[in-house]
Amino acid sequence: MRRLPLNSPQPPHSVRGTAGSSVQHDSAWKHVSGQARYIDDMPEPEGLLHAAAGHSEQTHARILSMDLSAVRAYPGVVAVITAQDVPGHIDIGPVFPGDPVLADGLVEHVGQPLFAVAATSHEAARKAARLARVDYDPLPAQITVEQALASQSFVRPSRTHLRGNPDSALKQAANRLSGSQHIGGQEHFYLEGQACLVEPTEDAGVFVHTSSQHPTEVQKLVAEVLGLPIHEIQAEVRRMGGGFGGKETQAAPLACVAALLVRATGRPVKYRLSRPDDMVQTGKRHDFYNTWDIGFDDTGVISAADIMVAGRCGFSPDLSDAIVDRAMFHADNAYYLDHARVTGHRCKTHTVSNTAFRGFGGPQGMMVIEQAMDDIACQVGRDPLDVCLDNLYRPGRDTTQYGQTIEQHVLPELMRSLEQSSDYRQRRQAIQAFNRTHPVLRRGLALTPVKFGISFTAKHLNQAGALVHIYTDGSIHVNHGGTEMGQGLYIKVAQVVATAFQVDLDRIKVSATRTDKVPNTSPTAASSGSDLNGMAALNACETIRAGLTEFAAEHWQVSPDSVRFENNTVHVGDTAVPWADFVQTAYMNRIPLSSSGFYATPRIHFDHDAGQGRPFLYYANGAACSEVIVDTLTGEYRVVRTDILHDVGRSLSPDIDLGQIEGGFIQGMGWLTTEELVYSAEGRLLTTGPATYKIPAVSDKPPDFRVQLLPESPNREATVFHSKAVGEPPLMLAISVWSALRDAVASITDHRYCAPLDTPATPERVLAAVTESQQWVAEANREAVADE
Ligand code: MTE
Ligand code: MOS
Repeated sequence: MRRLPLNSPQPPHSVRGTAGSSVQHDSAWKHVSGQARYIDDMPEPEGLLHAAAGHSEQTHARILSMDLSAVRAYPGVVAVITAQDVPGHIDIGPVFPGDPVLADGLVEHVGQPLFAVAATSHEAARKAARLARVDYDPLPAQITVEQALASQSFVRPSRTHLRGNPDSALKQAANRLSGSQHIGGQEHFYLEGQACLVEPTEDAGVFVHTSSQHPTEVQKLVAEVLGLPIHEIQAEVRRMGGGFGGKETQAAPLACVAALLVRATGRPVKYRLSRPDDMVQTGKRHDFYNTWDIGFDDTGVISAADIMVAGRCGFSPDLSDAIVDRAMFHADNAYYLDHARVTGHRCKTHTVSNTAFRGFGGPQGMMVIEQAMDDIACQVGRDPLDVCLDNLYRPGRDTTQYGQTIEQHVLPELMRSLEQSSDYRQRRQAIQAFNRTHPVLRRGLALTPVKFGISFTAKHLNQAGALVHIYTDGSIHVNHGGTEMGQGLYIKVAQVVATAFQVDLDRIKVSATRTDKVPNTSPTAASSGSDLNGMAALNACETIRAGLTEFAAEHWQVSPDSVRFENNTVHVGDTAVPWADFVQTAYMNRIPLSSSGFYATPRIHFDHDAGQGRPFLYYANGAACSEVIVDTLTGEYRVVRTDILHDVGRSLSPDIDLGQIEGGFIQGMGWLTTEELVYSAEGRLLTTGPATYKIPAVSDKPPDFRVQLLPESPNREATVFHSKAVGEPPLMLAISVWSALRDAVASITDHRYCAPLDTPATPERVLAAVTESQQWVAEANREAVADE
């Protein structure tokens, strides 16, 4: 029997759209023509009500009383509920407790939902929600990471990864540098805000249309607040208008509130957030305060590191335990630290509970070592790229501080290749010449790597299910546990199925993700969507194919070895049966044409208490080379060119992957440069819309932008067709922009001093670094004169 072995290189194919070929996103046309349907576009069911919440005006306070009479009296209001009206659980913390669905006597951040309103229009609900009279007894609040560190106030226990003896190794090192940094947070700014539509079913349950990366969690939490078994609830996600981590846990509270209002009224309820409410009420990327103390030799090779990362988690744990873990896992980025201690703190603040955002803490951890790398290069007087290359993991120096061995060394060659293709060395010289002569402008260049661990660090999440049906006309229907947020997961899984049966891609349709089709799903997150669901779908296809092969061999009286699936045809010995005819024949002979499939990631384990293990199945890698030009009078700058070389293993869908890399890079650039979350001293978010919060625009794309996939680089692990995950890692390629800005500024001191540059590196911060560098030069000159 000739089966397409799992993970074999793909056979040469003449069918259209199998894995490895470039195809359009299945909804590309619908996205750009406005025909893709999001929750708020759905036809409104009869009797629909609209939800809104009343918000805390206080940072940290006990609620003394809530007078909701004006809210109830507002025209159009049908129901008003508080925590007292919740029949089941009030706490909907996704992993650890701490998130009341509606405030229960205590508020812990400005914007926390206190009560919810259902009214006959969106406007009426929002206006009514503002009419509450709430009396508070204010309590002391802490807003910043530093305040939380000073009071040792954490949402989860701190943790440490330790190898060797960093303290004595630091003392013995030939050179030693230390520093600190503030890394800003980030608003997800998905174009579709949080939204759900919840309908009562004929029994006690509800059907939830949600814009969520985690329909199973929505299902489970809705069941819990209603006090019902999970099977009474169905959740469906057709697509999200962007999630970026912001809809991993943050969609469920809306669904729970809407479901409670359905319970209170017996009518369907839609709950969608306005942009300002979305920005105030839902969690963001954690901002971090990081410190480092590093020992190195005269060439800049690191021998010891003591690193601390501290994330602002907000008032509850949410996913912060794992997010700070990932910051710790990536505090080495791509470098061997030798004797190392990495400590991570999960700081409790009276601000919104921060959450997943593309990279999941990894980017914030990487920033610490990338700052150190540039400072070390300044100190030893070498090109930062050379220091970086000398510190890369390579055979013999290949184990991380948490005990995982890097088995596939991609970066040393990848970086050399990008160095060549980006003309790094020649441009470095041209930039030096420019900077020596230009009175005002400074150019900067940086080439930085990314190594990103793939797998959920919570082991149990690394599983997936799928459901594949073949219908009698030969068309194929696929469902799996992953959700579509624009990243192209549906089309990738369809390509996997097309490959398994060797049929054209247009025979395959992936349908909306539903908890009653594939149960107990993991969130679509950690970039693992195609790794997990692609494998589960392949597993389902394998089951069906095995049955079909056995049937064909019997029916046509040949050996199973001579049954081949090829080019929309099933070859049975010398007989070539067109796919649809073959399927029809199998059906008439009562052969199963449907199967579920399952996958669990092998080879991963981690002991959180010991801080040691193999948390990742493999690493995705990439590097970017960015050039910037800075105006030293104003601090304004532009990115003039970026070259990227990125490792996606053997790509499942090259154009989709390129889109992910471009989008991830630009989103990362926004995070590190223009996107600034400003809080008042009392912890009130002041940047609540696009007028004050600047995401990158089309015009911010580097005018010269060259993105390549690393060729001939199959994943050594047995992933789906040896591909690699692509969703998050490219975001961190944007560190090259920040590093290039520091390089431009450091040219003021002839790279003798590299001024720190907190992020987002807005023009104001760049100007401050320029000024600091100019003062450094003036000081150095004064000292030189004094010495004479
Ligand atoms: N791409 C688009 N267009 N929209 C998104 O919301 N989310 C990112 C990434 N790429 C996102 C995206 C994040 S945070 C993750 S974890 C992955 O996609 C999730 O999808 P995947 O696992 O299928 O790659
Ligand atoms: Mo992505 S932050 O893992 O949803």
